[in-house]
Amino acid sequence: MSTQDAEGLDVAAIREDFPILEREFNGHDLVYLDNAATSHTPDQVVDEIARYYREYNANVHRGLHQLSQEASIAYEDAHDRVAEFIGASGGREEVVFTKNTTESMNVVAYAWGLAELGPGDEVVLTEMEHHAALVTWQQICKRTGAECKYIGLTEDGQLDMDDARDTITDDTQMVSAVHVSNTLGCVNPVSDLADVAHDHDALFFVDGAQAAPNRPVDVEAIDADFYAFSGHKMCGPTGVGVLYGKEHLLEEMDPYLYGGMMIRKVTFEDSTWNDLPWKFEAGTPVIAQGIALAEAIDYLDDIGMENVKRHEERLAEYAYDRLTAMDDVDVYGPSPEQGRTGLVSFNLGDVHAHDLSSILNDYAVAIRAGDHCTQPLHDRLGVAASARASFYIYNTEAEVDKLVEAIEGARDLFA
Ligand SMILES: Cc1ncc(COP(=O)(O)O)c(C=O)c1O
Repeated sequence: MSTQDAEGLDVAAIREDFPILEREFNGHDLVYLDNAATSHTPDQVVDEIARYYREYNANVHRGLHQLSQEASIAYEDAHDRVAEFIGASGGREEVVFTKNTTESMNVVAYAWGLAELGPGDEVVLTEMEHHAALVTWQQICKRTGAECKYIGLTEDGQLDMDDARDTITDDTQMVSAVHVSNTLGCVNPVSDLADVAHDHDALFFVDGAQAAPNRPVDVEAIDADFYAFSGHKMCGPTGVGVLYGKEHLLEEMDPYLYGGMMIRKVTFEDSTWNDLPWKFEAGTPVIAQGIALAEAIDYLDDIGMENVKRHEERLAEYAYDRLTAMDDVDVYGPSPEQGRTGLVSFNLGDVHAHDLSSILNDYAVAIRAGDHCTQPLHDRLGVAASARASFYIYNTEAEVDKLVEAIEGARDLFA
């Protein structure tokens, strides 16, 4: 069935692939608006996981029997599929499967950062970084004597590129930035940041956790040295993430984890390393999850990433307009005209986001509440927490209306 019509996605057809969306509780149909935390998984991906376990479950790389060969081919091909999806012309050599975005970040921070950073060096982040990057680089800087610096925000909640040009200097060794902020919803000019970083011979790491699920990504057009994202936010299963790295950089880096599979030759005295990307995939890797991620990518590509992007932008604009029309709701981040993806963080007057979220749950409206792993950013915004509604391919404007009705219900309760 077609998943696209003249107005955008054929959401009704898409929803048929996600039986979880038929759930009801508290007397209401589920309205799932927590996709930036984890998206749902279509039947096609669930079926692929089941098919792997039912038909060719085996360990990869080392077996000569039929099942191991089938599993190895599917697992290795999944790396190529991811490479194609993000425009990595080096293919599987440039795609490491990890557990999630956080682990991808840690691979580079440990393998590259511990070896390369020292006193006098600087790592430049943004004030809107997720803790996955912020805490990781902060702690690696502490261990190496390097310094962490932060690019600030403009008044309207976007990355301040003038400040970026001031903050990134010849002392900068690494710039690490979110492609899309999981709190502000803004889309950062990552290829401009790459230019500034490279002008100073620094490397550039892009946290694509909130971008890869909802827009076409071309790591080579961005000129990212590293790019990370998670399968579970893009129709894939939990337990698999991606680290893209330019081949020559991954070649130069030492492994992050040691053990089986990542070696070539081992003696009692020393060891040498396997080819890329297996050098960074120690032990039994994420076989079922990796294969299922490739299926999720097929699913998204069938819809078309440009269509996914437009659908998210349309919903974000609608939600932004409806929420900003409420006098007692504060919305964070730029307006849709300034560029915003499918998530909106907000607060209702003095109501704590946790209280709001639990009232919304009474209406079966699932949103996120808290600091969204961006505590320093919330400090900057002057709030302890916020509520966040985030959309995906199966959400509708009618669901945004239900969100607004539920917020109005919460307001009446707290009045
Ligand atoms: C921008 C951003 N970076 C990193 C992460 C961490 O992702 P994971 O928990 O899959 O490692 C998230 C998750 O919410 C995120 O939104």
